[in-house]
Amino acid sequence: MDANDASTQPPLGPTLRLGVLGGGQLGRMMIQEAMNWDVRVEVMDPSAEASCRHLTHRFVQGNLNNAEEVLAFGRGLDVVTVEIEHVSVEGLQALADAGVTVVPRPAHLGLIQDKGLQKEAYANWGIPSAPYTLIEGLEDVGAMGFPVVQKLRKGGYDGKGVQVLRNVEEAAERGFDAPSVLEQAVDIDKELSVIVARNAGGDTAVYPVVESVFNPEVNLVDHLMAPAAISEALETEARQLALDVVTAMDFVGLLAVEMFLDHDGAIWVNEVAPRTHNSGHHTIEGNVCSQFEQHLRAVLNLPLGDTSPLHPASAMLNLIGAPDAHGTPLYVGLKEALKLPNVHAHIYGKSTVKPHRKMGHVTVTGPDVASVQRDVLKLRGTLRVEGAQTA
Ligand SMILES: Nc1ncnc2c1ncn2[C@@H]1O[C@H](COP(=O)(O)OP(=O)(O)OP(=O)(O)O)[C@@H](O)[C@H]1O
Ligand SMILES: [Mg+2]
Repeated sequence: MDANDASTQPPLGPTLRLGVLGGGQLGRMMIQEAMNWDVRVEVMDPSAEASCRHLTHRFVQGNLNNAEEVLAFGRGLDVVTVEIEHVSVEGLQALADAGVTVVPRPAHLGLIQDKGLQKEAYANWGIPSAPYTLIEGLEDVGAMGFPVVQKLRKGGYDGKGVQVLRNVEEAAERGFDAPSVLEQAVDIDKELSVIVARNAGGDTAVYPVVESVFNPEVNLVDHLMAPAAISEALETEARQLALDVVTAMDFVGLLAVEMFLDHDGAIWVNEVAPRTHNSGHHTIEGNVCSQFEQHLRAVLNLPLGDTSPLHPASAMLNLIGAPDAHGTPLYVGLKEALKLPNVHAHIYGKSTVKPHRKMGHVTVTGPDVASVQRDVLKLRGTLRVEGAQTA
């Protein structure tokens, strides 16, 4: 049976059994949408403290990278999807072979889990992406000269496993001794992202381009602004490029396409994520159909939702653990933040805070980018996530 054939699925409602591999905040925000249709989500996550733990109809604590555990969790479900890309492809393929609809397809996860295969695919498809070389380990780290960006082929996330090496000394000191992609450092003007949904019927829906503003200290997104401050021509080009990637891959599901705009005005694809994405959180309040509802629509092969913005501007500010925060989280300044009429908070339900851990986010909507930007800066100064124990 075609793993993406949704025609045999039960109708929407409590008889439809949807499994999600990964039980963090992305799964949690998807469950919030699934409840509206009484679709009962079942979740597997390695942590007994996962954000989804108490919100799901069945929670299994298990290893996402273990094929047998993935198969045992998903067997008998109608549809299985992911909220994280680091999941056993073998396990997912076994589920697809057993007749479970698996979205995204296991092969796509296999491609995305390996940044080296991803780069080769972009080259084959004619998708613009920074020039690169694949290396086996530290001895070849100078193959492209310096500065260079070294990325572990497998296992990285949130910028861990990615580093800029400026010279031979730095390479010797900090270079990863593992199979990696060496990539030309792009002279980045802006980091952009475009989320595209595609269902098994081939319908697509593209969200407006968003701009990520990074905090260089921790290499995490500081806040995100929609619309991106780019020309209409670049907006069109970026959306088309995201669609080109989805079409070239023949992807089904929700795909976040991360891009760089360089100082010459060229757009490069950095990488893709086959799931809901940090850069789409503002769509909960900012767009007609949120990325979480859209993800459900795509994986269940439903008509796709309207991606139009509801406000002239929206921003999203991640709430991350303070540098010395440990223990039970304390969301300092949140009550005051909610006095602003255009602020919405999403706290992810994590039982403990750690330095730089993503604990929640706030969305700000407004009549124009400048006023939203002002509110974001205000909130950055007043919102903090501290811990009951400070170490
Ligand atoms: N070729 C490059 N040139 C310049 N900067 C880069 C390049 N590649 C990556 N970066 C920087 O490093 C960041 C993380 O890279 P990448 O997205 O590949 O890693 P990641 O671990 O998958 O991160 P995340 O989970 O945050 O997406 C990018 O957002 C960008 O700021
Ligand atoms: Mg990335």
